[in-house]
Order: sequence, then structure tokens, then C-alpha cells
Amino acid sequence: MTKPSILIARAISPSVVAFLQRHFVVTVNESDEVWSPETLTAQLQGKDGVLTTGSERIDAALLAACPQLKVVANMAVGYNNFDVAAMEQAGVQGTNSPDVLTETTADFGFALLMATARRITESEHYLRAGKWTKWSYEMFSGAEVHGSTLGIIGMGRIGQGIAKRGAHGFGMQVIYHNRSQLSPELEAECKARYVSQQELLQTADHVVLVLPYTPENRHTIGAAELALMKPTATLINIARGGIVDDAALAQALKEQRIAAAGLDVFEGEPKVHPDLLTVPNVVLTPHIASATAGTRIKMAQMAADNLVAVLGRKAALTAVNTPDAAAQAKRWAV
Ligand code: DGY
Repeated sequence: MTKPSILIARAISPSVVAFLQRHFVVTVNESDEVWSPETLTAQLQGKDGVLTTGSERIDAALLAACPQLKVVANMAVGYNNFDVAAMEQAGVQGTNSPDVLTETTADFGFALLMATARRITESEHYLRAGKWTKWSYEMFSGAEVHGSTLGIIGMGRIGQGIAKRGAHGFGMQVIYHNRSQLSPELEAECKARYVSQQELLQTADHVVLVLPYTPENRHTIGAAELALMKPTATLINIARGGIVDDAALAQALKEQRIAAAGLDVFEGEPKVHPDLLTVPNVVLTPHIASATAGTRIKMAQMAADNLVAVLGRKAALTAVNTPDAAAQAKRWAV
């Protein structure tokens, strides 16, 4: 029997490539360039599956042009690069890589919160620029982390990880807002109290965004929401670009309407709103919240395991959609 053919759309760990080569005829994007939709479509001709990252957009046009494609395995927990409805209609299985990155991403969220509150990168730039001539009383005075109020919007697994770090490690009062309230057991574990988004924005000292991107969540934080926050508060976004209105945030930071922000994700990334690059009270990182060697391997391996399952005609391990059965059967017949 001929092996199915797959594409690995970006460069990943050689050990996972070797694993996939045992199961499939594998083509790898060794250049690691983010391909245009046209190039990606061309590379997908004759492929049964593809391992993607959040950078590859999977939409109706691409699916129509790739009739043999059966499965798209994202090595990311978020999958807003998928048009899920189009995939469902086209009979294509989508999968993601949850859980394996939860603690690593929560670690990073907390690191970004601390760097932002305690002005770590801003003060480092000052030192590197040779501006440090003497110790002084108020130099880079920041916001307290321990004992302060932590507000989390989006209380999934990563949000819960951040809550536990804050409540148990730093004695913070944790409040959260989410589509649905957690069970009393989970609330007790996280020492977290459910509040409205408005109350959270008005009372939190540090607001952390960990909600998935959906069109409804676009600009969850815009000018009106920033206006509710305390002038001493910080805002951390490790969720997705577009959840924050970056132009409104840059303006609020410029006018010091909030104290500071820490951003790992951006609207239209890898482009960054030019005003965010000029305000000093923001810590900027290039979408690296899950970036540790061990976690990235686990994410890639989970995507690989999903490809093996689906192309072996088994259920996906972490499905994000239910493909239309008739359309799916057509793809298996190509
Ligand atoms: C995810 O898994 O969604 C992270 O943002 C990594 O891309």
C-alpha cells in the first residue's frame, strides 16, 4: 500500500519529522518561510494531510483547490487560522494541540506580568543606553505584584494556570471573567472569584487576557474598556492579536491612562502598531509564550499523532470540528 503524502508547512524538530517519515511521504518547508496562500496551495497538491502553525490560513478557496487534503493538524492550541465552517463543509478534519503547552504558557504570562509591572525591559534599555549614573529613590518605581488584584479574562486551562500562580505563589486576590463560570471546585483550586468584565477592569491591578480569538472577541479591550481600568493598572495580552485594539492601547499608554502593558501577540502580527514601538511603558515579545524546546516538541508531536490517527482512518485525538461525512468520503476517494 502506498503511504499517504503530507506537508509540514514550517520547519519543526527533526525528531518529529523522522517520526512522520516512518508513516508518510513527507515534504518539509525547509526554508521556514511563511508561504503565500498561492504557494501553500501549490505545495499541497497531492497531499493528504498538512501540519500547520498559526501562520497558515486554511479557508474555503484553499480547500477547494486541494481536493485530496483530508486533515489539517495545527501545532497550536488556538486555531483562528482555520475557517472551521469551511473545513466542516469541505469534509476536512482540523485538529489542534491543547494541554501540552498550558503550564509553559502560564509561566510566560506570569513572566510578562512581572516584567511589565516591575518595568524590567524599560529599565534594562536605560542601563544599556548608558543613562544610569546613580541610584535614586524613585527610579523605575513599578507596581506591586504580590498581594495585588489579578484579573483574568478567559479562564480556560492557561487562565487557571495563571490564577494558581498568582493566588498560591504571590498571595494575589484573583478575579476572573469568562463565558461561563467555573465549577465551585475549580474556583476553589484557583482561589478565583467570578465577576463581570466591567468590575474586573475597574478593580484589577493587573489584567491578563487569555481568551481565544473569535470574531465576537475582536477588540474585547478597546478605548472604552481601557478607560475603565485604573491609571496604575497593567494589561497583559498572551491570547491573540485583535483581542486588543492596539491603536487604542498605544494611545492609552502614551497618555499614561494605564501604567503599562505586556504584549506577546499583535493585530496583524508580525507587524506591530508603530506607536507601540515608541512608547516606553510596554514590554513587547514576538509570540513566544509557548516557546520552550520541550513544549514545542510536544506540540509538534501532538500534531503528528493527529495526522497518523486521521490518515490511519482513526478518530482525531484533538478534533476541532466534525467534517461533513459526504464531503469527507469524496476526499478519501480522490
Ligand atoms: C498557540 O498554541 O495557540 C500559541 O499561540 C502558539 O502559537
